[in-house]
Amino acid sequence: MILSNHPLKTDANKETIPRHIAIIMDGNGRWAQRRGKPRTAGHRAGINAVRRVVEACGDLGVKALTLYAFSTENWKRPAREVSFIMRLLQDYIDKEMETLHRNNTRLQFPGRQEGLPGAVLASMERGVRLTAANTGSVLSIALNYGGRAEIVDATRSVMRAVERRELNPDDLNEIVFNRFLYTADLPDPDLTIRTSGEYRLSNFLIWQNAHALVWITPTLWPDFGSADLQAAINAWHNSRGETL
Ligand code: FPP
Repeated sequence: MILSNHPLKTDANKETIPRHIAIIMDGNGRWAQRRGKPRTAGHRAGINAVRRVVEACGDLGVKALTLYAFSTENWKRPAREVSFIMRLLQDYIDKEMETLHRNNTRLQFPGRQEGLPGAVLASMERGVRLTAANTGSVLSIALNYGGRAEIVDATRSVMRAVERRELNPDDLNEIVFNRFLYTADLPDPDLTIRTSGEYRLSNFLIWQNAHALVWITPTLWPDFGSADLQAAINAWHNSRGETL
């Protein structure tokens, strides 16, 4: 696949492409506000940026892409905005799962299922089932996700494993703990991108981001495209070898 108007050029060759890129997609509301449009128009435009970036990562051979779509904190937004975002997410999953499947991409949804609308859960399950055996790359859509909640959930699972005598507490170490996280099957992100200029992790992959390069761009998420992705990968490439 080739992006029509923005052929991807990067001075990082395939061997030095990040294995896992994680993105905090921020700025949909501001993008809309600047155009005198409702925030929902920003979220709609944000979906197009998701499509661009998924395609660009596929072209580059990035093995894992994790997108922060909805945080545990996002429930505090007005109910109408939350249901709009949920509908958009469901629509995205329904429309894209076949393409992702054809591209040998596995879809997964790190986060807590409780509280998510039934229709969204049903689409998630369909997407996960359809793509479960795919081996090319992994697209993780973090939905109802919180980094601290993930660590609490992992700790609970560790304790249950100890209760069942499947794990000896003396054997617990970082590698073993990692197996209890939502992202157990993924390498840690090498590069985490945040759009719209804020210098925060916002409870995103706080365990997994221990050694990631965090790259912040003022670009608002709906404007994010292959040139921004290329700049982030180049920054990661140039930072390699520096003290972690
Ligand atoms: C960020 O902008 C928006 C969100 C975190 C929620 C919605 C995300 C999408 C619509 C992208 C969909 C994702 C997938 C994977 C299909 P904001 O509303 O926080 O913007 P602001 O900070 O300018 O108000």
